[in-house]
Amino acid sequence: MTTIPLLQSLPPPRLHLHGGGGDLPLRSRRGGCIVMNATSETNNPAILNAVFEPFEEVKKELLLVPTVPHDSLARHVYSDRSEAAINDQINVEYNVSYVYHAMYAYFDRDNVALKGLAKFFKEACIEEREHAEKFMEYQNKRGGKVKLQWMMMPISDYDHLEKGDALHAMELALSLEKLTNEKLLNLHKVADENNDAQLADFIESEFLAEQVESIKKISEYVAQLRRVGKGHGVWNFDQMLLAA
Ligand SMILES: [Fe+2]
Ligand SMILES: [Fe+2]
Repeated sequence: MTTIPLLQSLPPPRLHLHGGGGDLPLRSRRGGCIVMNATSETNNPAILNAVFEPFEEVKKELLLVPTVPHDSLARHVYSDRSEAAINDQINVEYNVSYVYHAMYAYFDRDNVALKGLAKFFKEACIEEREHAEKFMEYQNKRGGKVKLQWMMMPISDYDHLEKGDALHAMELALSLEKLTNEKLLNLHKVADENNDAQLADFIESEFLAEQVESIKKISEYVAQLRRVGKGHGVWNFDQMLLAA
């Protein structure tokens, strides 16, 4: 007796898309509906050129689907360098957020009491934290692993003999925003070098424009604070921020 194996090595089935009135093999006759039929014709060169062979083409992808539970299933065309650079950017955003939080605490002191600046830096702190979280979500979306790193301890006092505290803190904020912009551009470069169009698009659409806006806004605040000096003008500037 001849045994027929359950799985034979047959040529891979091919999908054909049929309209209701066509005359291709194994055509469905269910009214005018489009149906998909699998056939095992592989020798017709005309069809070979015209038809997408999903079962053939997916073979190499199937080999890449990880079987180890701690490996991401979603990861696709995502380089280790991109993964590491995203983790670095998460750290940059968190560090900037931490400094802004320290500035908030300074301006909220009872003997400083610049409530507008306190509000401004608190909002900035939250915004940078949200940036960090956006990168964390993205890391997971691409199948990378979020690795949080150490943060620097920010200074607690922002007074400055010549500049005063408001201008000194705002100049620091400006340099932090420029540094962040530089880091974002480096990240974009890593995406380019690894042909990761999706990562490049994410950075462009979610971060680059906003970063340039932040730099412009804080530059204007620095310019205004340089005009008003350290005294009463700072109070007016602070009231303006409070009302914003
Ligand atoms: Fe940011
Ligand atoms: Fe920012």
